[in-house]
Amino acid sequence: MAAGVSNTTASTDWGKADFEAIYNCPDPRRYFTTLQPLDYQIPHHGQAVFRAVTEALQRRRSDRPPLSVIDLCCSYGVNAALLNHRLSLTDLYSRYTGLATRTPATAQLAQEDRTFFATRRRPEAARVIGLDSAEAAVEYAESAGLLDRGFSENLELVDPSEEFRQSLAGIDLITVTGGVGYISERTYARLLDCMSSPPWVASFVLRTVPYEQISALLARAGLVTEKLTTRTFRQRRFADGDERRATFAALAARGLSTVGKEADGFYHAELYLSRPAADAAALPLAELLPG
Ligand SMILES: C[S@@+](CC[C@H](N)C(=O)[O-])C[C@H]1O[C@@H](n2cnc3c(N)ncnc32)[C@H](O)[C@@H]1O
Repeated sequence: MAAGVSNTTASTDWGKADFEAIYNCPDPRRYFTTLQPLDYQIPHHGQAVFRAVTEALQRRRSDRPPLSVIDLCCSYGVNAALLNHRLSLTDLYSRYTGLATRTPATAQLAQEDRTFFATRRRPEAARVIGLDSAEAAVEYAESAGLLDRGFSENLELVDPSEEFRQSLAGIDLITVTGGVGYISERTYARLLDCMSSPPWVASFVLRTVPYEQISALLARAGLVTEKLTTRTFRQRRFADGDERRATFAALAARGLSTVGKEADGFYHAELYLSRPAADAAALPLAELLPG
Protein backbone atom coordinates (compact mmCIF):
# COMPACT_ATOMS: atom_id res chain seq x y z
CA MET A 1 0.00 0.00 0.00
CA ALA A 2 1.34 3.46 -0.87
CA ALA A 3 2.58 5.78 1.87
CA GLY A 4 -0.12 7.95 3.29
CA VAL A 5 -3.04 5.69 2.53
CA SER A 6 -2.81 3.41 5.53
CA ASN A 7 -6.15 4.83 6.66
CA THR A 8 -7.90 3.25 3.70
CA THR A 9 -9.79 0.01 3.91
CA ALA A 10 -11.29 -2.14 1.19
CA SER A 11 -11.84 -1.04 -2.41
CA THR A 12 -15.08 0.47 -3.59
CA ASP A 13 -17.08 -1.48 -6.14
CA TRP A 14 -15.67 0.76 -8.92
CA GLY A 15 -12.06 -0.16 -8.19
CA LYS A 16 -10.92 2.84 -6.15
CA ALA A 17 -9.37 2.56 -2.71
CA ASP A 18 -11.88 3.45 -0.01
CA PHE A 19 -11.14 6.82 1.59
CA GLU A 20 -14.29 6.87 3.72
CA ALA A 21 -12.15 7.31 6.85
CA ILE A 22 -10.90 10.73 5.75
CA TYR A 23 -14.18 12.09 4.34
CA ASN A 24 -15.99 12.72 7.61
CA CYS A 25 -13.41 13.92 10.12
CA PRO A 26 -13.92 16.93 12.41
CA ASP A 27 -11.53 19.02 10.29
CA PRO A 28 -9.57 18.73 7.00
CA ARG A 29 -6.12 17.80 8.36
CA ARG A 30 -6.38 14.04 7.83
CA TYR A 31 -7.89 14.57 4.37
CA PHE A 32 -4.97 16.66 3.18
CA THR A 33 -2.20 14.65 4.90
CA THR A 34 -3.57 11.43 3.38
CA LEU A 35 -4.05 12.80 -0.13
CA GLN A 36 -0.86 14.85 -0.44
CA PRO A 37 1.44 11.82 -1.01
CA LEU A 38 -0.93 10.77 -3.80
CA ASP A 39 -0.67 14.19 -5.47
CA TYR A 40 -4.44 14.62 -5.30
CA GLN A 41 -4.88 17.60 -7.57
CA ILE A 42 -8.27 17.66 -9.26
CA PRO A 43 -9.45 20.69 -7.20
CA HIS A 44 -6.47 22.60 -8.62
CA HIS A 45 -7.71 21.92 -12.16
CA GLY A 46 -11.24 22.70 -10.98
CA GLN A 47 -10.11 26.11 -9.77
CA ALA A 48 -9.00 27.26 -13.24
CA VAL A 49 -12.03 25.80 -15.01
CA PHE A 50 -14.67 26.87 -12.49
CA ARG A 51 -13.26 30.40 -12.43
CA ALA A 52 -13.39 30.59 -16.23
CA VAL A 53 -16.96 29.23 -16.22
CA THR A 54 -18.17 31.59 -13.48
CA GLU A 55 -16.56 34.53 -15.26
CA ALA A 56 -18.39 33.57 -18.47
CA LEU A 57 -21.67 33.29 -16.54
CA GLN A 58 -21.03 36.58 -14.81
CA ARG A 59 -20.47 38.34 -18.16
CA ARG A 60 -23.82 36.99 -19.41
CA ARG A 61 -25.76 37.72 -16.26
CA SER A 62 -24.22 40.95 -15.03
CA ASP A 63 -27.66 42.06 -13.89
CA ARG A 64 -27.71 39.67 -10.95
CA PRO A 65 -24.40 39.36 -9.16
CA PRO A 66 -23.16 37.50 -7.18
CA LEU A 67 -23.44 34.12 -8.87
CA SER A 68 -24.86 31.16 -6.98
CA VAL A 69 -23.00 27.87 -7.19
CA ILE A 70 -23.73 24.48 -5.68
CA ASP A 71 -20.66 22.27 -5.24
CA LEU A 72 -21.58 18.58 -5.03
CA CYS A 73 -19.50 16.27 -2.84
CA CYS A 74 -18.04 19.48 -1.41
CA SER A 75 -16.16 17.77 1.41
CA TYR A 76 -14.41 20.38 3.62
CA GLY A 77 -15.18 23.15 1.13
CA VAL A 78 -12.09 22.68 -1.03
CA ASN A 79 -13.60 23.95 -4.30
CA ALA A 80 -15.29 26.87 -2.52
CA ALA A 81 -11.95 27.80 -0.98
CA LEU A 82 -10.21 27.78 -4.36
CA LEU A 83 -13.01 29.49 -6.29
CA ASN A 84 -13.53 32.39 -3.91
CA HIS A 85 -10.11 33.10 -2.42
CA ARG A 86 -6.68 34.22 -3.48
CA LEU A 87 -4.93 30.93 -2.81
CA SER A 88 -3.90 27.67 -4.43
CA LEU A 89 -4.32 23.99 -3.61
CA THR A 90 -0.63 24.02 -2.64
CA ASP A 91 -1.47 26.68 -0.04
CA LEU A 92 -4.21 24.44 1.38
CA TYR A 93 -1.84 21.45 1.55
CA SER A 94 0.74 23.63 3.35
CA ARG A 95 -1.86 24.95 5.75
CA TYR A 96 -3.34 21.61 6.77
CA THR A 97 -0.23 19.40 6.68
CA GLY A 98 2.17 21.95 8.11
CA LEU A 99 0.79 22.13 11.62
CA ALA A 100 3.18 19.52 13.02
CA THR A 101 4.61 21.81 15.67
CA ARG A 102 1.16 23.02 16.71
CA THR A 103 -2.00 20.98 17.04
CA PRO A 104 -4.91 23.38 17.48
CA ALA A 105 -8.23 21.86 18.45
CA THR A 106 -10.80 21.75 15.66
CA ALA A 107 -12.75 24.75 16.99
CA GLN A 108 -9.56 26.80 17.20
CA LEU A 109 -8.53 25.75 13.67
CA ALA A 110 -11.97 26.68 12.31
CA GLN A 111 -11.74 30.07 13.97
CA GLU A 112 -8.26 30.64 12.51
CA ASP A 113 -9.51 29.46 9.12
CA ARG A 114 -12.34 32.01 9.17
CA THR A 115 -9.75 34.77 9.41
CA PHE A 116 -7.39 33.06 6.95
CA PHE A 117 -10.07 32.81 4.27
CA ALA A 118 -11.74 36.15 5.01
CA THR A 119 -8.48 38.02 4.45
CA ARG A 120 -8.05 36.25 1.09
CA ARG A 121 -11.64 36.61 -0.13
CA ARG A 122 -11.94 37.72 -3.76
CA PRO A 123 -14.22 40.69 -4.41
CA GLU A 124 -16.11 38.75 -7.08
CA ALA A 125 -16.73 35.76 -4.79
CA ALA A 126 -19.74 33.58 -5.64
CA ARG A 127 -22.34 32.42 -3.15
CA VAL A 128 -21.52 28.73 -2.66
CA ILE A 129 -23.83 26.06 -1.31
CA GLY A 130 -22.23 22.72 -0.51
CA LEU A 131 -23.70 19.24 -0.57
CA ASP A 132 -21.92 16.24 0.89
CA SER A 133 -23.21 13.21 2.75
CA ALA A 134 -20.34 13.67 5.25
CA GLU A 135 -21.88 15.71 8.04
CA ALA A 136 -18.68 16.67 9.89
CA ALA A 137 -16.95 17.86 6.70
CA VAL A 138 -19.89 20.08 5.74
CA GLU A 139 -20.09 21.44 9.27
CA TYR A 140 -16.39 22.35 9.14
CA ALA A 141 -16.72 24.04 5.76
CA GLU A 142 -19.55 26.17 7.12
CA SER A 143 -17.75 27.06 10.32
CA ALA A 144 -14.62 28.05 8.39
CA GLY A 145 -16.76 30.46 6.39
CA LEU A 146 -16.32 28.63 3.07
CA LEU A 147 -19.97 27.79 2.42
CA ASP A 148 -22.93 30.12 2.55
CA ARG A 149 -24.97 27.03 3.34
CA GLY A 150 -24.03 23.38 3.62
CA PHE A 151 -26.27 20.34 3.48
CA SER A 152 -25.23 16.86 4.58
CA GLU A 153 -27.94 14.98 2.77
CA ASN A 154 -27.66 11.90 0.57
CA LEU A 155 -29.74 12.56 -2.54
CA GLU A 156 -28.89 9.11 -3.85
CA LEU A 157 -31.30 7.86 -1.21
CA VAL A 158 -33.76 10.58 -0.24
CA ASP A 159 -35.37 13.76 -1.51
CA PRO A 160 -33.84 17.05 -0.36
CA SER A 161 -35.16 18.63 2.83
CA GLU A 162 -37.47 21.63 2.52
CA GLU A 163 -34.68 23.99 3.61
CA PHE A 164 -32.33 22.56 1.00
CA ARG A 165 -35.02 22.83 -1.70
CA GLN A 166 -35.52 26.49 -0.95
CA SER A 167 -31.81 27.25 -1.09
CA LEU A 168 -31.64 25.83 -4.64
CA ALA A 169 -33.66 28.66 -6.15
CA GLY A 170 -31.53 30.79 -8.46
CA ILE A 171 -28.55 28.43 -8.71
CA ASP A 172 -26.41 29.39 -11.75
CA LEU A 173 -23.88 26.57 -11.73
CA ILE A 174 -23.47 23.01 -10.41
CA THR A 175 -19.85 21.89 -9.91
CA VAL A 176 -18.20 18.65 -8.88
CA THR A 177 -14.70 17.23 -8.54
CA GLY A 178 -14.01 13.69 -7.36
CA GLY A 179 -17.68 12.96 -6.76
CA VAL A 180 -19.35 11.41 -9.82
CA GLY A 181 -19.45 7.68 -9.19
CA TYR A 182 -20.34 8.30 -5.57
CA ILE A 183 -23.28 10.29 -6.89
CA SER A 184 -25.29 9.37 -9.97
CA GLU A 185 -28.13 10.77 -12.05
CA ARG A 186 -30.35 10.21 -8.99
CA THR A 187 -28.71 13.12 -7.17
CA TYR A 188 -28.86 15.37 -10.25
CA ALA A 189 -32.51 14.50 -10.88
CA ARG A 190 -33.48 15.43 -7.34
CA LEU A 191 -31.59 18.72 -7.61
CA LEU A 192 -33.09 19.67 -10.99
CA ASP A 193 -36.58 18.93 -9.66
CA CYS A 194 -36.09 21.86 -7.26
CA MET A 195 -34.92 24.35 -9.88
CA SER A 196 -37.19 26.41 -12.10
CA SER A 197 -34.59 26.61 -14.90
CA PRO A 198 -31.56 24.33 -15.30
CA PRO A 199 -28.20 25.88 -14.37
CA TRP A 200 -24.91 25.23 -16.15
CA VAL A 201 -23.26 22.02 -14.96
CA ALA A 202 -19.46 21.58 -14.86
CA SER A 203 -18.24 18.11 -13.87
CA PHE A 204 -14.81 16.53 -13.62
CA VAL A 205 -15.33 12.80 -14.07
CA LEU A 206 -12.82 9.96 -13.97
CA ARG A 207 -12.42 8.23 -17.33
CA THR A 208 -13.38 4.98 -15.61
CA VAL A 209 -16.77 6.36 -14.61
CA PRO A 210 -19.60 6.69 -17.14
CA TYR A 211 -21.31 10.08 -17.46
CA GLU A 212 -23.90 9.12 -20.10
CA GLN A 213 -26.81 8.70 -17.67
CA ILE A 214 -26.18 12.12 -16.17
CA SER A 215 -25.77 13.86 -19.54
CA ALA A 216 -28.98 12.15 -20.77
CA LEU A 217 -30.84 13.47 -17.74
CA LEU A 218 -29.42 16.95 -18.35
CA ALA A 219 -30.48 16.73 -22.02
CA ARG A 220 -34.04 16.00 -20.94
CA ALA A 221 -33.81 19.17 -18.82
CA GLY A 222 -32.74 21.15 -21.93
CA LEU A 223 -28.95 21.19 -21.55
CA VAL A 224 -26.37 20.28 -24.18
CA THR A 225 -23.34 18.49 -22.73
CA GLU A 226 -19.91 18.99 -24.29
CA LYS A 227 -16.75 17.15 -23.31
CA LEU A 228 -13.46 19.02 -23.46
CA THR A 229 -11.54 17.02 -26.04
CA THR A 230 -8.22 18.86 -25.99
CA ARG A 231 -6.99 17.38 -22.73
CA THR A 232 -7.67 15.30 -19.64
CA PHE A 233 -6.82 16.22 -16.05
CA ARG A 234 -4.72 14.28 -13.57
CA GLN A 235 -6.76 13.46 -10.47
CA ARG A 236 -4.25 11.61 -8.28
CA ARG A 237 -1.70 8.82 -8.35
CA PHE A 238 -2.89 5.24 -8.06
CA ALA A 239 -2.67 4.25 -4.40
CA ASP A 240 -1.41 0.77 -5.27
CA GLY A 241 -1.16 -1.91 -7.94
CA ASP A 242 -4.74 -3.05 -7.32
CA GLU A 243 -6.10 0.36 -8.23
CA ARG A 244 -3.92 0.49 -11.31
CA ARG A 245 -5.01 -2.96 -12.49
CA ALA A 246 -8.70 -2.25 -11.81
CA THR A 247 -8.45 1.05 -13.68
CA PHE A 248 -6.72 -0.43 -16.70
CA ALA A 249 -9.33 -3.22 -16.83
CA ALA A 250 -12.21 -0.73 -16.57
CA LEU A 251 -10.73 1.44 -19.32
CA ALA A 252 -10.13 -1.57 -21.58
CA ALA A 253 -13.78 -2.57 -21.07
CA ARG A 254 -14.77 0.91 -22.22
CA GLY A 255 -12.45 0.64 -25.24
CA LEU A 256 -10.16 3.39 -23.95
CA SER A 257 -6.37 3.38 -24.32
CA THR A 258 -4.20 4.38 -21.36
CA VAL A 259 -1.37 5.64 -23.57
CA GLY A 260 -0.49 9.22 -22.69
CA LYS A 261 -3.09 9.05 -19.91
CA GLU A 262 -3.24 6.58 -17.01
CA ALA A 263 0.01 4.95 -18.15
CA ASP A 264 1.64 7.87 -16.31
CA GLY A 265 0.51 6.39 -12.98
CA PHE A 266 -2.38 8.82 -12.40
CA TYR A 267 -6.14 8.64 -12.63
CA HIS A 268 -7.30 10.99 -15.37
CA ALA A 269 -10.57 12.90 -15.34
CA GLU A 270 -12.48 14.53 -18.17
CA LEU A 271 -14.35 17.79 -18.04
CA TYR A 272 -17.99 17.96 -19.11
CA LEU A 273 -19.86 21.24 -19.40
CA SER A 274 -23.63 21.30 -19.88
CA ARG A 275 -25.43 24.47 -20.98
CA PRO A 276 -28.55 25.56 -22.83
CA ALA A 277 -27.91 25.17 -26.59
CA ALA A 278 -28.00 28.94 -27.19
CA ASP A 279 -25.33 29.52 -24.52
CA ALA A 280 -23.12 26.80 -25.98
CA ALA A 281 -23.49 28.29 -29.48
CA ALA A 282 -22.73 31.81 -28.26
CA LEU A 283 -19.51 30.76 -26.53
CA PRO A 284 -17.91 27.57 -27.88
CA LEU A 285 -16.21 25.44 -25.25
CA ALA A 286 -12.82 25.82 -26.96
CA GLU A 287 -13.12 29.61 -26.56
CA LEU A 288 -14.35 29.40 -22.99
CA LEU A 289 -11.51 27.05 -22.02
CA PRO A 290 -8.59 27.66 -24.38
CA GLY A 291 -5.60 25.41 -23.70
C1 LIG B 1 -12.99 12.19 -3.51
S1 LIG B 1 -13.96 13.14 -2.37
C2 LIG B 1 -14.02 14.66 -3.28
C3 LIG B 1 -14.10 15.86 -2.39
C4 LIG B 1 -13.85 17.21 -3.07
N1 LIG B 1 -14.84 17.48 -4.08
C5 LIG B 1 -12.47 17.26 -3.63
O1 LIG B 1 -12.30 17.14 -4.85
O2 LIG B 1 -11.52 17.43 -2.85
C6 LIG B 1 -15.59 12.48 -2.55
C7 LIG B 1 -16.64 13.11 -1.67
O3 LIG B 1 -17.92 12.59 -2.03
C8 LIG B 1 -18.70 12.52 -0.85
N2 LIG B 1 -19.85 11.64 -1.09
C9 LIG B 1 -19.86 10.29 -1.19
N3 LIG B 1 -21.12 9.84 -1.42
C10 LIG B 1 -21.91 10.94 -1.47
C11 LIG B 1 -23.32 11.15 -1.68
N4 LIG B 1 -24.15 10.12 -1.89
N5 LIG B 1 -23.80 12.41 -1.69
C12 LIG B 1 -22.97 13.46 -1.47
N6 LIG B 1 -21.63 13.32 -1.25
C13 LIG B 1 -21.12 12.09 -1.26
C14 LIG B 1 -17.73 12.04 0.20
O4 LIG B 1 -18.21 12.26 1.51
C15 LIG B 1 -16.49 12.86 -0.17
O5 LIG B 1 -16.47 14.08 0.52
